[in-house]
Amino acid sequence: MWIFGLNSNLVASFLISELGFAIRQPRESRSGRANRRLIGKAREAAATMRPILMKGHERPLTFLRYNREGDLLFSCAKDHTPNVWFADNGERLGTYRGHNGAVWCCDVSRDSMRLITASADQTVKLWNVQNGTQLYSFNFDSPAKSVDFSVGDKLAVITTDPFMGLPSAIQVKQIARDSSDQISDSVLTIKGPVGRINRAVWGPLNKTIISAGEDTVIRVWDTEVGAFISVVYIYLGVTHVMVLYFSLGSLDVYCMCILQTGQLLKESDKETGHQKTITSLSKSADGSHFLTGSSDKSAKLWDMRTLTLIKTYVTERPVNACAISPLLDHVVIGGGQEAVHVTTTDRRAGKFEAKFFHKILQEEIGGVKGHFGPINALAFNPDGRSFSSGGEDGYVRLHHFDSDYFNIRM
Ligand SMILES: *[C@@H]1O[C@H](CO)[C@@H](O)[C@H](O)[C@H]1NC(C)=O
Ligand SMILES: *[C@@H]1O[C@H](CO)[C@@H](O)[C@H](O)[C@H]1NC(C)=O
Repeated sequence: MWIFGLNSNLVASFLISELGFAIRQPRESRSGRANRRLIGKAREAAATMRPILMKGHERPLTFLRYNREGDLLFSCAKDHTPNVWFADNGERLGTYRGHNGAVWCCDVSRDSMRLITASADQTVKLWNVQNGTQLYSFNFDSPAKSVDFSVGDKLAVITTDPFMGLPSAIQVKQIARDSSDQISDSVLTIKGPVGRINRAVWGPLNKTIISAGEDTVIRVWDTEVGAFISVVYIYLGVTHVMVLYFSLGSLDVYCMCILQTGQLLKESDKETGHQKTITSLSKSADGSHFLTGSSDKSAKLWDMRTLTLIKTYVTERPVNACAISPLLDHVVIGGGQEAVHVTTTDRRAGKFEAKFFHKILQEEIGGVKGHFGPINALAFNPDGRSFSSGGEDGYVRLHHFDSDYFNIRM
C-alpha cells in the first residue's frame, strides 16, 4: 500500500528519472565480441524495469533479507522498527515493534516462522513473523551488529560492537524450538578482532563461522562443539573447558574436557584482501562461496572452505552492500560516498546505482539507478527474478527483472 502513499507528481518524477537496467559499455580488452553482443541484447532490455518504491521507514535502510520461499522481504533501518513486505508487489504486511535503537541486521528461519533482529539498543530479539509478537530478547553490554541463523535454525551467530572498553565479540546462542524454553547463555564466545565486526555468517554444515569488519581481515573460526554439549565455558575464546552431557540408555554421563573450539582456522591474506573496512558479506545460494564489499571501492568473491580469493570487482565508490545472484553469473554491489559528501545534485538526480558485474569475467554489465542516497542494503530474491535495494534515503526499491535481462549472455 505504501507505494500509493506518495503523491502522484512524485511518482511521475520517479518514473522519469528511472533509467531501468542501463547497460554499461564494457572495456574492449576482454571478450570484446561477447560483450558487444551483450550490449545489443541488453540495450533492448534497458529502461523497462520499473521499480516498486516501498516507503515504510523513516530513517536510512540498513539490511534486507528474503525468506527462503522468496515471498516475503524483511527490511531493517535506523528507525528501530523492522518491516515485512510482500516480495511480489511491495505491499507492507507488518512491523516488529520493540527495539529502542537502530536495527542493523536480521535473519528469518527456514520455515519463515521466526525473525531474529540485531540492534544498537544492545539486544537481539526473536519475533513471531506472522503476528509481530516478540518471543525473546537477548541482552548484551554493547550494540549488536549482525545476526545469522545456522542451517537448521538451532543456533544463531551474533556479533557485538567494541563498546565502553569491551572488545568486539562473536557469540553463538542456541535457539530453542519453543521460545518458552529459550535461555540467554552463549554456547560460544569469540573475542579478538580489533574494531567492529560488521558481519558473521555460518560456514558449511555450521562447522565454521566467517567474520569480517573494520580490521579488513576475513577470518574463519572453528565452531564444532559436538552434539552432546549442554554447557560450554569459554576462556579468552580460544581454549575452553567443556562439560559434555549425554545419555547412555538410562545412564546420564557428564564429562569435563578441554577442547579447542572457537579457534581461528584461517585469515584472509593482507596483500590480496581488502584494504579498508569490510562493510558487507553475502553468501552464495549453495554456500560454496561468498562476496565481501569494502570501503576500498571493491567487492571480492571468496571460496567458503579454503578462503581463497576468486574474483575482484572494482568500482568508483565505497561498497556498502553486495549480493550474489542465485540464478545467473551476476553479482550486484551498491554504495556511495559518506552521506556528508553527497552533493545535492546527486540527491536530486537519484544517481546512486546498484551495479551488476559478471561474476566470472569481473566486467561491469549494467546498473539500476534511482536511490537519492548511498545504497546500504541489497538482496536477490531466492528465485533470482527480482532484487531489492535499500538506501540512505529511507526507501526500499524492489525491481522485477524483465525477460530481456535473462537473455543477457556473455
Ligand atoms: C501470535 O501467535 C502466537 C503463536 O501462534 C500466539 O501464541 C500469540 O498469542 C499471538 N500473539 C498475538 C498478539 O496475536
Ligand atoms: C548444521 O547443519 C546441518 C545441515 O548442514 C543441520 O542438519 C544441522 O541441524 C545444523 N546444526 C545446527 C546445530 O544448527
